[in-house]
Amino acid sequence: MSALKVDVFPTVQAVRARELPGRVAIAIDVLRATTTAVTALANGSTGVMASRDPEEALTLAANLPSGSYVLGGERGSLRLPGFHLGNSPGEYAVDVVANRRVILATTNGTDAIRLAGHAQAAAAACLLNGRAVGAWAAMTGLDLTILCAGTQGEFSLDDVVCAGQVVDAFCEARGGGVDLSDLALCARELFVGARHRLLDILQGTRHGRRLIALGFGADLEYAAQADSSRLISVLVEGVLREVTGNQGQR
Ligand code: MLT
Repeated sequence: MSALKVDVFPTVQAVRARELPGRVAIAIDVLRATTTAVTALANGSTGVMASRDPEEALTLAANLPSGSYVLGGERGSLRLPGFHLGNSPGEYAVDVVANRRVILATTNGTDAIRLAGHAQAAAAACLLNGRAVGAWAAMTGLDLTILCAGTQGEFSLDDVVCAGQVVDAFCEARGGGVDLSDLALCARELFVGARHRLLDILQGTRHGRRLIALGFGADLEYAAQADSSRLISVLVEGVLREVTGNQGQR
């Protein structure tokens, strides 16, 4: 049996949709879209739809009964006009999202989630649940592509550290027979060396510093809580949903 390949792409722009069929893809945007999506699912949302842009989000919402959804997202990290929520995970509390669909429109993260949908199986991960999602991906028996959202086409360190967490869990779960690209190797080394100072890492990133300046420092503290969740957030027909065990494998 040939080794499973693991590739990490530092930005959404670095990968083409046609490279994804036949693989399992994991989208990562630690600051903050996938952290927010995973939190919404953990708090009882029936599913998170990643929309292309704010206009598409509004159109999707117009076709749903009022009260059955919440519209969330950002531009420039700030809540969009007419939207219920911004992109802080703390806003997606149980009393706001339970039994409701979340329609999310963010600058980079929702593009990564949508791109992952071209793969045979797909999920979203953040530091909270990266280990659980990495182990789930290993069970699919497919080559793995990790799609880091990045920030406006630039590499984001927070996403690559989380990619390393996913790679580490994938390798551990496979127990061998894994062929890592150099960026996958690099991400894993980075995560293993940095796992005890993840908040420092997030706070040092350019996007992290910008979020702190905007008053969102608590979002970084929350996002840095690695392995605090076992939730597996799988993309099924364009909607992220919580699954357990072997569910969500196509
Ligand atoms: C994005 O998708 O670009 C981010 O989640 C931006 C943010 O931190 O709000």
